[in-house]
Amino acid sequence: MNEFFEDIWRGLNASPKYMESKYFYDEAGDAIFQEIMNVPEYYLTKSEMDIFSSQSGKLADIIANQFAAFDVIELGPGDCTKSIHLLKELASRKTDFTYYPIDISTNIINQLDRTLPSIVPGMKVAGLNGDYFDMLDELKDMSTRNKVVLFLGSSIGNIPLENTVDFFKALKSHLSPGDLILTGFDLKKDPNVILAAYNDKAGVTKRFNLNLLTRINNTLDADFDTAQFAHAPTYSEETGACESYLVSMKKQRVRVGEVGWIHFDEGERIYMEVSQKYTTKQVDDIAVAAGFEPVHHFYDSKEWFMDALWKCA
Ligand SMILES: C[S@@+](CC[C@H](N)C(=O)[O-])C[C@H]1O[C@@H](n2cnc3c(N)ncnc32)[C@H](O)[C@@H]1O
Repeated sequence: MNEFFEDIWRGLNASPKYMESKYFYDEAGDAIFQEIMNVPEYYLTKSEMDIFSSQSGKLADIIANQFAAFDVIELGPGDCTKSIHLLKELASRKTDFTYYPIDISTNIINQLDRTLPSIVPGMKVAGLNGDYFDMLDELKDMSTRNKVVLFLGSSIGNIPLENTVDFFKALKSHLSPGDLILTGFDLKKDPNVILAAYNDKAGVTKRFNLNLLTRINNTLDADFDTAQFAHAPTYSEETGACESYLVSMKKQRVRVGEVGWIHFDEGERIYMEVSQKYTTKQVDDIAVAAGFEPVHHFYDSKEWFMDALWKCA
């Protein structure tokens, strides 16, 4: 609660205003994200599901050939519908592994701890509820075996491009030589296809963004009028950055509890999230710059999305 307040207050007082996308995921945000995955325009989940439903066997073979015993760590698993294909394949190969999902949403971790043992009978599951790197620190004492890290859904795209190599270097500091990491990267494509995915006709992505204002109202006793904010994503073909903004429709002020007021000009934007798009070459360059060796590119049939397998050098 305190950290939430401090981060939100800092972002709303900054110029330009921003919010941290990890705060999208309260219980309502988790549910709206499940809806996003089903809207026709949101191709990312469908593309990555295409990869996992048809190529998990090949991926499991690569992993099982490397290690007899290991741990699978998934960063931000959400409802885990894609990785479940791989977990089933690994379990069917009689490999010895424990699955550690790490998610900031308590709701998600409780759900996975409850449901996974019956979906993949016999699989050991130990959910960790918190921020990625805090939980990786905690994991140090729990997991001493080789690791396979999954970071799917193009969540990496929510990290600004200029910080991406540092993110992977930090991740590498929690790994050992030979460990594997599989990351989902959304690839550059027709800009209209990309923008539509973040601005669906039914308005689900809009609701997802506005839900953070509702969360602030409920948690920090604020009085955002969500009807006075528009949802406006942008995409730059040049940089590959798809950015989501909420735009104040009028000059207004918003009270945040007893702490004070936030002032908005008409048309003033709150930066909500970046969803970076990449080329394969860019992804390979990131791997090498962060100290990994590219092992395999798994593409969907349209080549709109890629899961990149890297080995820790
Ligand atoms: C966009 S969803 C993706 C879910 C899933 N990987 C997929 O591909 O469908 C992002 C997930 O990461 C979690 N998350 C976001 N930021 C996080 C952070 N900093 N630490 C831990 N979990 C985080 C969210 O709670 C959510 O479950």
